[in-house]
Amino acid sequence: MKLLHIDSSALGANSVTRDLSAAVVARWQNAVPGLSVEYRDLDANPVPHLTGGSLAGANAEEAADAAAIMEQFLAADVVVVGAPMYNFGIPSTLKAWIDRVAVAGKTFRYTENGPEGLAVGKKVIVASGRGGLHTGAPSDFQEPYLTFVLGFLGITDVEFVRAEGVAYSPEHRANAIAGAKDSISAPLALAA
Ligand SMILES: Cc1cc2nc3c(=O)[nH]c(=O)nc-3n(C[C@H](O)[C@H](O)[C@H](O)COP(=O)(O)O)c2cc1C
Repeated sequence: MKLLHIDSSALGANSVTRDLSAAVVARWQNAVPGLSVEYRDLDANPVPHLTGGSLAGANAEEAADAAAIMEQFLAADVVVVGAPMYNFGIPSTLKAWIDRVAVAGKTFRYTENGPEGLAVGKKVIVASGRGGLHTGAPSDFQEPYLTFVLGFLGITDVEFVRAEGVAYSPEHRANAIAGAKDSISAPLALAA
């Protein structure tokens, strides 16, 4: 079984979502012997913004990285995504990665009956962190966006491990992180 671990926080060792995504991955590693884990840190190793040049394949190094990102994504059974809320949405580094995995003909296609997701059968676990409280609020363009875009790619098994209100106080932050870690569900015994 293959797990792909993505982090996108710009806050380094102080990051909530890095802490949570690592906890999720550790759970899977403990539960699934021989689990193969690949990691991309989108802060340390960002994907370039999608431009006309990207679509034209003007830069060979960028095109090779984009191809590798797609291959890595398609091969993964489980994807763990560290996704902080920045300015009510996701970090632009994570959006740049999504721009490389949401590709017509690879992960979705249009048919006479409308769009069809092609990246079926994956499980995605999103480690979500936000300074305020946004669950169910109109200010949440982070989690609903991820749910929608992943669903568009055919991924309906999406779980959120969420710490929110982390900016309210140190106590609130500690409780929110502990609560999020407690909420991590047992890894599924998927076939290898
Ligand atoms: C650039 C930036 C923008 C942020 N924007 C928001 C926001 O719009 N709403 C919010 O509730 N918290 C916001 N926060 C707080 C983060 O969501 C919170 O610190 C969360 O823990 C970030 O995850 P991380 O620690 O893994 O980076 C922002 C933080 C940063 C650094």
